[in-house]
Amino acid sequence: MTRSPADVASLAGALEGLRLTLHVLAAAVWVGGQFTAAGLLPTVRGFGEDAPKAVARALARLLWPAYAVLVVTGFWNVSTFTLSSAPTAWKAVLVAKLVVVATAGIAVLVHQRAATPRGKAVFGAVGALTSVTALVLGVLLAG
Ligand code: HEM
Repeated sequence: MTRSPADVASLAGALEGLRLTLHVLAAAVWVGGQFTAAGLLPTVRGFGEDAPKAVARALARLLWPAYAVLVVTGFWNVSTFTLSSAPTAWKAVLVAKLVVVATAGIAVLVHQRAATPRGKAVFGAVGALTSVTALVLGVLLAG
């Protein structure tokens, strides 16, 4: 797809801007939220025994809507490409990304439900790393 500055003024250009803005904003919340929470955790622990749980619940209220927006806008992104003429490598990256996105969602869910500190740490790390991988694969897809 070739793009020119004039496209921005068209309806298609505006829709493309909306689609990508929503996708990237949701990626910022989903990925950035996890890293911000990990970085703030030592400070939050200082606020009391129940503080990490309360913050985790508040974080979940931000993360899951962002994940839903990523999936919806992700399929919207895919619908703008002609898959039959897309290069095999691009399709392979897309399939890899879908697997990584699903793994990230499952890992974050298991992390939230894990009862042991070890389970929380392992699944939290898997969730964050697979989320960053999804971000990198997204940048590759956008070219
Ligand atoms: C954890 C979830 C996800 C993250 C962090 C993520 C992140 C990103 C990022 C950062 C971009 C680059 C945007 C740009 O440079 O303009 C992107 C593009 C893209 N993403 Fe995602 N994404 C996620 C989920 C999905 C899903 C579920 C799908 C497919 C169903 C998808 C399909 C795409 C496609 C096709 C593009 C290229 C868009 C274009 O160039 O028009 N993404 N993604």
